Amino acid sequence: MKKILALACTIAMAGTMFVTANAGEELLKIGYVQVGHESDWRMANTQNYYDVFTEEAGFELELIDCDNDHARQLTEVRNFIAKDFDYIVIDPIQSAGWDNVLKEVQDAGIPCIIADRSVDASDDLYTTAVGTDMTAEGVTAGQWLAEYLAGEGAKILVIEGSTGSSAAIGRSEGFNQVAAEHPEWEIIDSQDGDFTQNGGQQVMESFIKTYGADGFDVVVCHNDNEAYGAMDAMDAAGIKYGVGEKIIISFDATNEGLTRTLNGQILCDVECNPIQAVIVMNVIKALQNGEEVEKFTLVPDEGFCAPGIESEIVTTMTDEVLAGRKY
Ligand code: AHR
Repeated sequence: MKKILALACTIAMAGTMFVTANAGEELLKIGYVQVGHESDWRMANTQNYYDVFTEEAGFELELIDCDNDHARQLTEVRNFIAKDFDYIVIDPIQSAGWDNVLKEVQDAGIPCIIADRSVDASDDLYTTAVGTDMTAEGVTAGQWLAEYLAGEGAKILVIEGSTGSSAAIGRSEGFNQVAAEHPEWEIIDSQDGDFTQNGGQQVMESFIKTYGADGFDVVVCHNDNEAYGAMDAMDAAGIKYGVGEKIIISFDATNEGLTRTLNGQILCDVECNPIQAVIVMNVIKALQNGEEVEKFTLVPDEGFCAPGIESEIVTTMTDEVLAGRKY
């Protein structure tokens, strides 16, 4: 394995310290199989990798946008193996179906990092993982709703993220755990919106057709883009949302999502932090130095609610919170 590049100097960028490499030294080749470009979150995550894994920092990054195609993702990992990359980073589109290719990476002696989402495979098959706790995100959303409704009954619709992704599975599991403690809630339907604005809009249009404007109280969207689509569908149908109207809950807490939380359209937005590349880089640096790394590094996140709502579960949105949110 190549030795990590000697540290020449450090530069401060966007509040994070980056390391620059001595000229002429060999770059570490990092292959990243990215999920796709389905959401604002995803675009921020991709940009973050480009910002962090620079040549100046000692890396040659090849990031492949797999366009939500699991088979393509497996093929691209195999291409990285064939090209003898130094590290392979996988953000798994779906959690199942990874055993064989992970074994191939391992047999090739290439350290493998699972990032953002998780895989249903033994952790013996990869080096380490970095990501948020998607189940905890779902629990936070459920607990906030319980606090907000304070015992009132509610009919709930769910626009799920892509079927089979750990992000959708975890958020549903977490929210359902809380829902199970609330017999006064009824989850009346749950459909896949594929983490896209278009998907969210289509699912919401079909929900409105099936249940009518009076047939639901809450819409849980598994990411911000789905929430924007759901709003488009509700706007077109003349259905209001916000305090005292339909309740929209979302995940990601991107700049646009939190803008819509600050203006009271989304009542609760639970963060999933896309800024993960520095953590992945630090793991790689530790491995290069021959250090032991944890099997899992948690990317912390928090929840936010609209102004005027008091909460012990999440933070009430302010202009200052939004100003600190760059992505
Ligand atoms: O895996 C993270 C999820 O995937 C984000 O919530 C979503 O926006 C993205 O597409």
